[in-house]
Amino acid sequence: MAKDDGSLNINRAICNAAGDAERVEMSAPADSSRMMQAIFLKDHVKRLIDIQPSYIPRPTFESYLSSLREKKRPLPREPLLHVKITHTAINHVDLLYAHGVHQNNKSGLFVPPFTLGLEFSGIVSDVYNPQNQACHFRPGDKIWGGSIGTHAEELVIPASAVHRLPSPLWSLHDVAAIGAGTIPVSYGALTTIAGLKAGEVILVHAAAGGLGVYAVQIARALGAKVIGTVGSQHKMAVVEELLRDPQTGRIPKGEGVINYSKDGWEKEVVALCKQTGKDGVDVVYDTVGLVLKSIRCTTFNGRVVVAGFAGRTGTGAEAVEELEKIAVNRILLKQIKLLGYRFGETSRRLPHETVKMWQGLDEMLSKEPRVIKPVVYQTYKGLNHANEAMEALHKRQVFGKAIVEVCDEEEAMRQVLQRSKQASTTFSARL
Ligand SMILES: NC(=O)c1ccc[n+]([C@@H]2O[C@H](COP(=O)([O-])OP(=O)(O)OC[C@H]3O[C@@H](n4cnc5c(N)ncnc54)[C@H](OP(=O)(O)O)[C@@H]3O)[C@@H](O)[C@H]2O)c1
Repeated sequence: MAKDDGSLNINRAICNAAGDAERVEMSAPADSSRMMQAIFLKDHVKRLIDIQPSYIPRPTFESYLSSLREKKRPLPREPLLHVKITHTAINHVDLLYAHGVHQNNKSGLFVPPFTLGLEFSGIVSDVYNPQNQACHFRPGDKIWGGSIGTHAEELVIPASAVHRLPSPLWSLHDVAAIGAGTIPVSYGALTTIAGLKAGEVILVHAAAGGLGVYAVQIARALGAKVIGTVGSQHKMAVVEELLRDPQTGRIPKGEGVINYSKDGWEKEVVALCKQTGKDGVDVVYDTVGLVLKSIRCTTFNGRVVVAGFAGRTGTGAEAVEELEKIAVNRILLKQIKLLGYRFGETSRRLPHETVKMWQGLDEMLSKEPRVIKPVVYQTYKGLNHANEAMEALHKRQVFGKAIVEVCDEEEAMRQVLQRSKQASTTFSARL
């Protein structure tokens, strides 16, 4: 049952992103009421900077459902939302999808043509609920969520895939910056998978990256001590800022940031641990591909969560060759617990676990004063700048998240209210 539900989710998401390559226009169409801008890829690309938005038909509930029917995929048993997207964030996985090197590209689950994008924030503009089920969303509600196909002006999405803003203190820009495809990955990895506890020490690799900046803050909120690694000086300053005690302005003993581009960084990690009487870190959060070196600075019985391989540079068959290979005796000698984590797959196979995880995350995000702060590298205005944002991420310039403002929030709300007035789209009546 759980597995079937999960499969439905990805099927629906893919359906939403799928497009008809014949109906794409590169310049603004005469009939803009039926077309929208989107980062629609007819094929995988070699250079991210060459990616340009084009115009594709706006998604409607009808087009969404008929696309599911065409593909012989199960129809949703829950309300659907039509969303006016205000912000979308660039995700590392976008780059993999664009290049066609993600496992979902290779398995045939996600092949061109498609609309890029995995996370968004925006405003509900219409609700499709023919069976009058309980639905907690109405036009005008501000939401954020994860779906495929979010680098676009509009989206149709099942209601269960979106979330309300954690509290009135959060803006649509803020939630885009923590990303529904980003912060829950780090939260799930540190809580459900690693079981990180107060007083433990965690080593967060690529601590200024999208997953990294939130892992640092989540670990702190859980009462753990954090040692972060980064690859450059400017990113070191970003993580130091996250670790500074607001009262003293100092980084507490036993915590710190280390540049892992220098040989021997493992010794620096152990030296930091020794400041608080530990011989190594309790947990490692590895999104880069540094398991072997990490084990060198892990305490006996330590846990290593393998969540990503950002350190791979290849995009073809060589990418697989670049994956780290380790002698298994290293795991035995220190009795390491090596734990894999695949957020999307967990959501598909264990949806109840994901619901529980989101409850914990929501609780953490709604705390006041805030324990999690958005970290934004840059906000790019308009989908026509999404290529620059992707290029910056590819070049490792980005810290935290690069955001694309698809539509100004006030303008989006104005359009939603106008759409609402125009007939509460007579769609249900027509069915
Ligand atoms: N397991 C899951 O469910 C899951 C979910 C989402 C993402 N991921 C994966 O997790 C990894 C990190 O994702 P993210 O969103 O944090 O990405 P990100 O925002 O691009 O950050 C990745 C960081 O990795 C470091 N890095 C080291 N070598 C790199 C290289 N050759 N190219 C690019 N970056 C490199 C960079 O930091 P420095 O410059 O400081 O070294 C960069 O900031 C990716 O492999 C992604 O596919 C896994």
